[in-house]
Amino acid sequence: MDEEDVVVRASGLVKSFPLTRNLFGRPLRSVRAVDGVDLTVHSGTTLGIVGESGSGKTTVGQLISRLQEPDEGTVEVRGVDVTRARGKALKAVRQGLQYIFQDPYGALDPTKTVGHAVAEPLLVHGRISRGELAAHAGPLLERVALDREFAFRRPDELSGGQRQRVCIARALALSPSVLIADEPTSALDLSTRSEILNLLMDIQADSGQAVVLVSHDFATVRHLSHRIAVMYFGRIVEEGTAAEIAESPLHPYTKALLSAVPVPNPDLQRTRQRTVLQGDLPDPAAPPVGCNFRSRCPVAMDSCATQDPPLLQIGPTRRVACLRHEPAEPMPPQAQFPLVGGTPPATSHASGGHQ
Ligand SMILES: Nc1ncnc2c1ncn2[C@@H]1O[C@H](COP(=O)(O)OP(=O)(O)O)[C@@H](O)[C@H]1O
Ligand code: SF4
Ligand SMILES: [Mg+2]
Repeated sequence: MDEEDVVVRASGLVKSFPLTRNLFGRPLRSVRAVDGVDLTVHSGTTLGIVGESGSGKTTVGQLISRLQEPDEGTVEVRGVDVTRARGKALKAVRQGLQYIFQDPYGALDPTKTVGHAVAEPLLVHGRISRGELAAHAGPLLERVALDREFAFRRPDELSGGQRQRVCIARALALSPSVLIADEPTSALDLSTRSEILNLLMDIQADSGQAVVLVSHDFATVRHLSHRIAVMYFGRIVEEGTAAEIAESPLHPYTKALLSAVPVPNPDLQRTRQRTVLQGDLPDPAAPPVGCNFRSRCPVAMDSCATQDPPLLQIGPTRRVACLRHEPAEPMPPQAQFPLVGGTPPATSHASGGHQ
């Protein structure tokens, strides 16, 4: 994997939301939802973004997909800066960056047929005429393993899993370079979740699409991702290949998240030590001095109260932000930004019974 494979490069992303405003509409207090995030998304791979609720995952996903505009930082798509794209240019950028929302119930217009919903992006972007909608809906539905006759149904006739398949088909209509899936299964029942996740994996394996998978569920992210970025309090605190993060986590936060994920081997599960995270995320309107994770960190040191650990490259493919893990010696220039992907996860095929 090299520089040519970079589909999206986000650099120094910052996004705040006002909590209160004065009489003139100026923000008095604000939440820094994303606080200096750098990441790259490579073609044909899945980048998993994981962290507790409120850590900034959705905001990063929306900044990457240009559904929101950053206060600071840039988003490049295939080397072109699209951060301030507007009007027609923004519309063109969004064709290539498709977002799959958490809630398939709210994402579909109940008054339109499924066929209209999946092929509508082609109409909106002027690629087909209204009369061609039905012809284009069929193949899109088949890509998400739904029968063509679903084109004539309405969203309220579908189960949650079927609706999410329709949303994925709609996102695929414009052949995007990147699919950004934000907790794509959390609104679904347990039996349907693995089908949707397997479908996303199969789509990626078949089409070489890049996928950004946003989830609070480490087990899901570990299973599907080539690379994993762990977010805490608006920042990436650790990033590496899925194997590095899942098998030898370095940041205490990553270790705590992983210790809560059950392992399939019962003997191993019995002997594992669980780190229970005490307390909540700090108040985003009043960020702590020193390391943001200090109040919950089981191995905090005195220096953690005064020093804010930067995200440092500590191996060819890994970055960590913790004062206990610093590079032994400066990294060579070619290793300053991780470009090497991990071992691709094994793909499995979506099972037949669609929800
Ligand atoms: N539109 C918004 N207005 C105000 N605060 C927001 C908004 N969106 C997100 N936030 C705040 O930003 C932080 C990160 O939110 P989010 O990106 O949704 O995190 P996650 O997806 O990891 O749960 C949270 O403190 C959240 O309350
Ligand atoms: S810098 Fe200190 S408080 Fe922060 S994660 Fe590392 S050891 Fe814990
Ligand atoms: Mg979210």
